[in-house]
Amino acid sequence: MKKLITPLLIALPLLMSAQQTVDERVEEILGRMTIEDKIGQLNQMDGRRDIEKVKQEVREGTLGSIMNIVDPAVTDELQRIAVEESPSGIPILFARDVVHGFNTVLPIPLGMAASWDDALIETTARNTAIEATEKGIRWAFAPMMDIARDARWGRIAESFGEDTYMAGRLAVAVVKGYQGESLTDPMSMAACAKHFVGYGDAEGGRDYNTTSIPPRTLRDVYLPPFKACVDAGCASIMTSFNDNDGLPSTGNRWLLTELLRDQWRFKGLVVSDWGSVAGLIPHGVARDKRDAAQQCIVAGCDMDMSSRSYLLHMKDLIEKGEVDVAVLDAAVRRVLKLKVELGLFDNPYARKVEKSEIYSDSVLDAACRLAEESVVMLKNESVLPLGENVRRILVAGPMADAPYDQMGTWALDGDKKHTVTPIMALRELCGDKVEIEYIPALTHPRDKSTAEFKALAKAARKADVVLAFVGEEQMMSGEAHSLSSLDLQGAQRQMLEELAAVGTPLVTVFMAGRPMTIAPQVEISDAILYAWHPGTMGGKALANIIFGHVNPSGKLPVTFPRNVGQIPIYYNHKHTSHRAKGTEGNLDNIPREAPQSVMGHTSSYLDVAPSPLFHFGYGLSYTTFEVSDLVIENKEVTADGNIKVSVMLKNTGSREGTEVVQLYTGRKTASVTQPLKELKDFKRVTLAAGESCKVEFEVPVSRLAFHNRDMVPAVEPGNYTLTVGTDSQSGLRTYFQIMN
Ligand code: BGC
Repeated sequence: MKKLITPLLIALPLLMSAQQTVDERVEEILGRMTIEDKIGQLNQMDGRRDIEKVKQEVREGTLGSIMNIVDPAVTDELQRIAVEESPSGIPILFARDVVHGFNTVLPIPLGMAASWDDALIETTARNTAIEATEKGIRWAFAPMMDIARDARWGRIAESFGEDTYMAGRLAVAVVKGYQGESLTDPMSMAACAKHFVGYGDAEGGRDYNTTSIPPRTLRDVYLPPFKACVDAGCASIMTSFNDNDGLPSTGNRWLLTELLRDQWRFKGLVVSDWGSVAGLIPHGVARDKRDAAQQCIVAGCDMDMSSRSYLLHMKDLIEKGEVDVAVLDAAVRRVLKLKVELGLFDNPYARKVEKSEIYSDSVLDAACRLAEESVVMLKNESVLPLGENVRRILVAGPMADAPYDQMGTWALDGDKKHTVTPIMALRELCGDKVEIEYIPALTHPRDKSTAEFKALAKAARKADVVLAFVGEEQMMSGEAHSLSSLDLQGAQRQMLEELAAVGTPLVTVFMAGRPMTIAPQVEISDAILYAWHPGTMGGKALANIIFGHVNPSGKLPVTFPRNVGQIPIYYNHKHTSHRAKGTEGNLDNIPREAPQSVMGHTSSYLDVAPSPLFHFGYGLSYTTFEVSDLVIENKEVTADGNIKVSVMLKNTGSREGTEVVQLYTGRKTASVTQPLKELKDFKRVTLAAGESCKVEFEVPVSRLAFHNRDMVPAVEPGNYTLTVGTDSQSGLRTYFQIMN
């Protein structure tokens, strides 16, 4: 490679005038680069290798971005080599999966989503950026916004759940938190919307599997969260591993260029998922890495994550005319643009920190609040919150003190030494006022031993209440960790049965990366809290809820099936011609040797009710709320207008609480079949006991657009239903009309 006498980094500030735009600066840099320099910029590799080798590659200019180095001394040294010794002098972009918190681990994204609190998600995402940039990370592979309707899929943990509008809104909150006011701020990281697209619909929930999403569903259900992030200025997008209807995303030109660039006008960087350029070979649509590199760069994938296909073959492809140099330049421009925007050409080094924010009180407090808001109370037979009368508590179960598991998947930088587990928090909260006996009984959730169960039952008899912490390990969800059964593992089920048989009030707390099939445990428990994997502060959040210092406000972002056979089950399914009556699903009602038609003809199973165990949007509080006086200001609207709606919300209970007021619309007749209803807005409202307030919504009619019979996004005139309530299945209903 041609060595530049003066590395660009040193030369550039002199060349730049104050008025020079980002684009001008990019052109300036690009104009000085050799073809080798350019190809090097498109190569991203893992840094968790022999560091001398990594340094050598940086020196040679074959790395544009490095993943997974979180030691600022090392990133700074690599950066110094890049700007002082590499041929182009272009700084490195350091990346990491910063998915839910950094050192301070937040609830898994599915848990975050249960808070329905985009403002707090943005605040905690900002804290995450502050922690991560302290370690030299300027590019985060998040938010993940795959729509997930199959809890067998391990990566449902990383998602915001089943709803399109919600996923988009919460993903935008993460983008804003990570990117801040400006990418140039040394405390900002570039966000990366992933995985583009449809990855969550993997067949049978088996990770990496084929998806078969038809064009209309792709556009109406899976793409909008990405569009929302593009509109919010998200700096980058990651392709997905799956092939949809025959085309792997990383080589899909329609997706990456026609839709993303030409229609959506996305100006940021597209990176492949890990090895997914070369992934075209096992997918069976590319002969070899050279072929894969050609297909992917032409399709619009700018950067090759870890497969080296671009690095190895791009020069030859250009020289033989199989890739136009203009295509290469376009990809390189996007890498350079991001580096310029992040200010790396002005200061490539990790920001110098006077006072570290890592695990600071304010960061931990915000993480605790998010964990509190993410807990969903699914049942409460007057047990919670625990009151003054409780003197003896038995704490049981493998998740009561599982500091590692509680952090959940992708807690790469979380240190379990900082995790506050339930037993730690309960002991601290209770001091010597309440006697706590702790018998884990099972060492981990897959433990099958029943040896401690006798002692457990004996202790339960003496206790005023039993708090049982069950669920699944961190390893049971996340990438490549799908399950075919969502039942409690090991002897956990039996442990709960033994405890329930004693008759002491039983509070069961779940910590898990997904909705599990918990019907039997709901039946035998007096109260159920679903805490997902709640992160560093999860134990404190739960103790606060259990003792009523915090009133639970979480609502399900995903439907809970009664059994695995019901999957996929989600609230916004389509109208069908044979809608279930709701009474189906009892084998005892099926007559013997009767005519086939005796059971009627509805879309349901013979052996399980058509309804889920818990529906989307559901969650209880220690107080009660009443929604009344639904008013639509404008019952007739035009496609470019706003629907103005209000309700009165009253806290009808005896303590302060927060309700999530949810607005759904639906239509029966349209040019193409429609979901029964769809979430279009929501608001968290906190009210004192007895207090009322007017909750107002203003929903742009454009949010109701869908792809019509001609596959054109349009708001169709006609009659719509509008429901406002506190979950997806109840509420006040009215009608409005969209005029021509
Ligand atoms: C995952 C991505 C992740 C990437 C980098 C892949 O295996 O699918 O979500 O960002 O690895 O770690």
